[in-house]
Amino acid sequence: MTNFKRTTVTSALPYANGPVHIGHLAGVYVPADIYVRYLRLKGEEVLFVGGSDEHGVPITIKAKKEGVSPQDIVDRYHSIIKKSFEEFGISFDIYSRTTSSIHHKMASDIFKTIDEKNGFVIQTSEQYYDETAQQFLADRYITGKCPHCGNENAYGDQCEACGTSLSPTDLINPKSAISGSIPVMRKTKHWYLPLDKHEAWLREWILENHKEWKPNVYGQCKSWLDMGLQPRAVSRDLDWGIPVPVEGAEGKVLYVWFDAPIGYISNTKELCDSEPEKYGKWEKWWKDPETRLLHFIGKDNIVFHCIVFPSMLKAEGSYILPDNVPANEFLNLEGDKISTSRNWAVWLHEYLEDFPGKQDVLRYVLTANAPETKDNDFTWKDFQARNNNELVAIYGNFINRALVLTQKYFEGKVPALGKLNDYDKHTLEEFANVKADVERLLDNFRFRDAQKEAMNLARIGNKYLADTEPWKLAKTDMSRVETIMHLSLQIAANLAIAFEPFLPFSSQKLRNMLNLKSFDWKELGRIDLLKAGDQLATPELLFEKIEDAAIEAQVQKLLDTKKANEIASYKAEPVKENIPFDDFMKMDIRVGTVLDCQKVPKADKLLQFRLADGLEERTILSGIAQHYPNPEELIGTQVCFVANFEPRKLRGIMSEGMILSAEDADGKLVLIQPKVKVINGVQVK
Ligand code: MF3
Ligand code: ZN
Repeated sequence: MTNFKRTTVTSALPYANGPVHIGHLAGVYVPADIYVRYLRLKGEEVLFVGGSDEHGVPITIKAKKEGVSPQDIVDRYHSIIKKSFEEFGISFDIYSRTTSSIHHKMASDIFKTIDEKNGFVIQTSEQYYDETAQQFLADRYITGKCPHCGNENAYGDQCEACGTSLSPTDLINPKSAISGSIPVMRKTKHWYLPLDKHEAWLREWILENHKEWKPNVYGQCKSWLDMGLQPRAVSRDLDWGIPVPVEGAEGKVLYVWFDAPIGYISNTKELCDSEPEKYGKWEKWWKDPETRLLHFIGKDNIVFHCIVFPSMLKAEGSYILPDNVPANEFLNLEGDKISTSRNWAVWLHEYLEDFPGKQDVLRYVLTANAPETKDNDFTWKDFQARNNNELVAIYGNFINRALVLTQKYFEGKVPALGKLNDYDKHTLEEFANVKADVERLLDNFRFRDAQKEAMNLARIGNKYLADTEPWKLAKTDMSRVETIMHLSLQIAANLAIAFEPFLPFSSQKLRNMLNLKSFDWKELGRIDLLKAGDQLATPELLFEKIEDAAIEAQVQKLLDTKKANEIASYKAEPVKENIPFDDFMKMDIRVGTVLDCQKVPKADKLLQFRLADGLEERTILSGIAQHYPNPEELIGTQVCFVANFEPRKLRGIMSEGMILSAEDADGKLVLIQPKVKVINGVQVK
């Protein structure tokens, strides 16, 4: 690291076809932001580039569905995404977009340079063509039956029912999703990046020279390389994207994965062109071997950032390659994979509506639980626990006590440091290593552990106050209280610095309360950050407890989503064999009024009904107890029952009939009850 003069940090450009959620934040943007803030605090030269990925087929599909243009879609989501990142303090130097003209030119130029250097091969192949719509069909635009599971609505690239990756020719009975017609095979020409020709140097570069990459990244690269690389098409027959800038490519655009990573470069250029005094020439961030390039991404992007993009840059010839690609695994939500299409996510803009001002709480929880080495799960219970038991009870509590006591005993002025006793010295020793520890962890992209170390500092402070009990000493030994509070305030100032990369909003608040002027990573670990006599501001709470009701509301929201998804995906059973009228007439279905209803002791499923059936009364047992936790509420309502169902004994009770209910998609049983009161004993026909 010492050989590098500056660092270019990129974070994956999110697709502008939906808002961003906690999975994006946890996997990519929070870690990238922590790292960048850390470097800035150290005074290093760093550039943090982001932007929206605005090309690709899914955007065109969404536009078609809504009857608007792809540009409308990306305009909408680009601004939502950009705003979410700003609100969460993701401190990009620039957040731009791949529909910008600078980007179109940059991507075309890079394509042309590679082409002039004969860096592509052109191949003709047969692809599905829709004769009605008169266009080639992207894989996503073809649907058909999955050869693996029989799902009738599999896509040409993937079956979402069984998860298998497909190619369009795997589909049984393919159909165009655009016109519904049966597609035909037609010849088309495409530009390919011959990755096979890059394999040798890639092997050496990654497998020999970058053994320090995270095991999940290194492992995935190794398995790609060991399988052997194939040429990859970098053009598509599509009308949304950057036109392939060479002759003979009419109607073709660059494949989205060719143009998107170039967006990092274009956005750098856009920034440098607009503020050259501050950022210098864009080339220094991308072409100077003394610049260190880092890509923060999620695991599904590894092959593109470690193999494809480096091959493009190498083929172009004048760029540096990434020094590291600290990719994360995935974050799940309450045990299920996060999914935009199933609305199974915590959307950042919605989170802020429900928890205004609590950006740092989410940043904290996502880092504490970051999917750094394996997939991890976000649960609202854990969110609440980490807020209440860690941020409030440890960090917040320490800061509050330190400031309130200073207010109380010293009118908010930093008291003087007296003679240190052994316990003070022991406490100071305990936090002497925090800086080195946090640094070592951050330098190795171990953000969870680094944050834990920062929290440890708050634990030390908390324990120091709890053990020394200055509120008791105040009656007897005020000079001792001065020293204790002085040291506590120094620890508080240290916390403001240590947490800045992780919890920038809280650090800002804390700095304001402490009137902390200088603010520099170098000062971490020192106990002269505040001077005796410095006036502090009025203390405020750094964090607030989150109540159960707020958490239950979030859990309910997810349950509602689950229910909506079940309804949307419910497939009715095929109809049974026809029956003649006489068979139907054999069934005697009637309406009766519930006179009494209670749980059968020791049977968790059974309810015992007493019904007025218009003749006498009858008892029927029904296995719906779990769905009616308050059976007495059914008394007085009417139900439908099969009156001539052969009586049978259950748990020693004779059940005379069968009460009718319907099973919902989630397995919940609902009684069939007439909406209008009818006479007891009438028949249902
Ligand atoms: N849009 C892609 C995704 O969300 C990431 C693109 S990263 C870039 O998976 F490098 F191509 F920009
Ligand atoms: Zn399938």
